[in-house]
Amino acid sequence: MPATLTPQVFPSAEDASAALANEIGNLVRIRASENRSVVLGLATGSTPIRLYSELAQLHRMGLSFANVITFNLDEYLGLERSHAESYWQFMHFRLFDHIDIPPENIHIPDGTIADEDLAPYCAGYETAICEAGGIDLQVLGIGHNGHIGFNEPGSPPDVTTHVTSLNEITIRDAARAFGGAEFVPTRAITMGVRTILDARRVVLMAFGTSKAQIVSEALTSEVTADLPATYLHNHQDATFYLDAEAASMLSQG
Ligand code: GLP
Repeated sequence: MPATLTPQVFPSAEDASAALANEIGNLVRIRASENRSVVLGLATGSTPIRLYSELAQLHRMGLSFANVITFNLDEYLGLERSHAESYWQFMHFRLFDHIDIPPENIHIPDGTIADEDLAPYCAGYETAICEAGGIDLQVLGIGHNGHIGFNEPGSPPDVTTHVTSLNEITIRDAARAFGGAEFVPTRAITMGVRTILDARRVVLMAFGTSKAQIVSEALTSEVTADLPATYLHNHQDATFYLDAEAASMLSQG
């Protein structure tokens, strides 16, 4: 039997995003009062966009992110930071340009690392997470194929930050943003499943009817490499934040 991974279902994506933003805001405030930092693991994709606008709003209302350290899950390999679809651009446009996080506290895998330097680079990313004190809260989305970060179906559980090849479904999902599947990078750097499971708390967000099927499978399936989100069953403090549409295929009761 999978461990209990209980979803929290909100009426809307806005409600779920506001709830997570408030949780993060409270953590940031408490740590600031203790003179400590907070380490956040962050995700890209359309799902966390509302979360990031809520966090920017909390900043406009006076919350400082000066004590926040962030590590992004992943980045496409072969993209310069300046590429419109790089996760570096996404994160700055959606969040970092709107809050007072010190730039040196921001960590996003570098998509321009040469092949021969990738292994030490990935090891260094893990070391930086450890030196920051480990991830307090990891935000995740879920791919239509069940991936978390870029840990595609077939990913083993005991892997840390590494280079991965993107799955057909992932490339198809990204094709529109890149103006065609042929322009989507085929490889990425991603935190591994181990990195994600080492976070002290994990919140996977999923919104909309297109995620209902995979969310239902992830919550009911045994832990399997075929559906990497099921690895979260093995975490002590992981939850799914869903809107009503993403929860529409969950059985009642
Ligand atoms: C990309 C990211 C994932 C994200 C997924 C879902 O593949 N690497 O971290 O969860 O997209 O994207 P969306 O939220 O747009 O459905």
